[in-house]
Amino acid sequence: MTSTSAPAATPELQALAEAVARRRNFAIISHPDAGKTTLTEKLLLYGGAIQQAGAVKAKGEQRKVTSDWMELEKQRGISITSTVLQFDYSGSTINLLDTPGHQDFSEDTYRTLAAADNAVMLEDAAKGLEPQTRKLFEVCRMRRIPIFTFINKMDRPGREPLELLDEIEQELGLACWPVNWPIGSGDRFRGVIDRRTQQVILFQRAERGRASEEKVLSVEEARSSGAVEPELLDAALEELELLEAAGNELDLELVHAGELSPVFFGSAMTNFGVRPFLDAFLELAQKPIPRSSSAGEIEPVRPGFSGFVFKLQANMDPRHRDRVAFVRVCSGKFEKDMTVQHARTGKTIRLSRPQKLFGQDRAVVEDAYPGDVIGLNNPGMFAIGDTLYLGQKVEYEGIPCFSPEIFAWLRNPNPSAFKSFRKGVNELREEGAVQILYDTDQSKRDPILAAVGQLQLEVVQYRLESEYGVQTRLEPLGYAVARWVVGGWPALEKVGRIFNCKTVRDAWDRPVLLFKNEWNLNQLGEDHPDLELSAVAPVVSGVEPIAL
Ligand code: G4P
Repeated sequence: MTSTSAPAATPELQALAEAVARRRNFAIISHPDAGKTTLTEKLLLYGGAIQQAGAVKAKGEQRKVTSDWMELEKQRGISITSTVLQFDYSGSTINLLDTPGHQDFSEDTYRTLAAADNAVMLEDAAKGLEPQTRKLFEVCRMRRIPIFTFINKMDRPGREPLELLDEIEQELGLACWPVNWPIGSGDRFRGVIDRRTQQVILFQRAERGRASEEKVLSVEEARSSGAVEPELLDAALEELELLEAAGNELDLELVHAGELSPVFFGSAMTNFGVRPFLDAFLELAQKPIPRSSSAGEIEPVRPGFSGFVFKLQANMDPRHRDRVAFVRVCSGKFEKDMTVQHARTGKTIRLSRPQKLFGQDRAVVEDAYPGDVIGLNNPGMFAIGDTLYLGQKVEYEGIPCFSPEIFAWLRNPNPSAFKSFRKGVNELREEGAVQILYDTDQSKRDPILAAVGQLQLEVVQYRLESEYGVQTRLEPLGYAVARWVVGGWPALEKVGRIFNCKTVRDAWDRPVLLFKNEWNLNQLGEDHPDLELSAVAPVVSGVEPIAL
């Protein structure tokens, strides 16, 4: 049965509706080095969440992000895990779902995108679309998440703005609507024209760590004051005219369907264009949306609390050896000490120590609303995709697994450490740190680790050693592509013998085919056109996975 969106307006429900209307939530998708950390830092500055930019990322070699906590991250200077940053700005409560910076951890980013209502696609103006951005875009497209584009580093020589838009439209099939348009670029970058107000925002380099104060002029003032060279202004105006004549119209429905992207030009490092971006984002972004569930679409204003686990993280604080389950609130008001139902097991759980996380800092949450994320201490009870609810039973659609690209046997050379090895492998799989596959030959009991990148495997080994005290060995398998067989074992048996691939089982005993390369995959497709393969694992619910 579908819950209704307009129950009688008690003061509690009114407060819930107001809290939902105030909330915006988003994740940034980008290729490493496009400026995600820098942009995050500047956005937080406007929210007053950090006093000084640089608290997010220290300059130079430390390259430290508040959301980095694992030792390995510090050693390698990379951001692996993701967290959630919440701040208030201009009457809105904004949840920025931080995603790992390193491409080897895109699996984690995929899951975070399942909790996001909007995405910001960040591009380097000199590079345009890059591989990691394209990959993450595909996930947004699958979920029809609205995409806001921020073209960064305009203070440096870059590609032609029209060419950048064309690339997005042609290659991603995503229509663009520039909210502002750049005047000049690189050394001659003078600012942007706000398309809706027809005002010129002049480019000034803000002092590092400061919110910039924009100087806003009319086009005539910009011309007559000599602030902008006439030829640059004329060129920008001409391009804008072209866009007006031949471009798209701003249609909020298309934006919310993920088909039209509002585009902004700016420079995160010099803090130019960040505040106008934030203002327009608040106006155009999607509020917390209804979510599909076993009980139909669940509106955020449904009175009973419900949410789902999109991420698990063990040992975030090594002093406490804890496990945290990140829950995206989807409906109702969440309150501390609430007793809720756990949909998968049917158990009742009291959520006694909910936390809000801000990088390394944690605070106990008293309440939370749809669009927010809370951290729950996880005594091994939660799995990724689990639903928690109050009232009528709700079970949200699970989160799919994505195709890994690198595979290795994980060997435990020390049989006396098997118990710890097993515990570690099972817990890291539950957490989603890595996917686990098994040989179809049951006598080969060692797990096969399947990951998106090499570093992900190294992290698993590192954590097995530091958190579970087991040293392991990796033996690469030499495959690079994985596909799930649609229809399972019967479908596979029907086609008979197949060549140039290895059949393995996933943790739900489903057949997965491993190929050395795309060519072999295509070959199989030609030999067996009836065999349907999927790059995304079907979602499982209600079944316990095979533990090691
Ligand atoms: P990431 O998280 O997406 O990987 O990127 P990050 O913010 O770390 O930025 C990557 C590099 O790009 C940094 O330089 C950063 O200062 C620079 N950058 C970000 N935004 C802009 C911009 O608008 N203009 C220019 N010119 N550069 C920008 P770095 O040398 O690696 O670090 P740092 O020494 O500046 O801290």
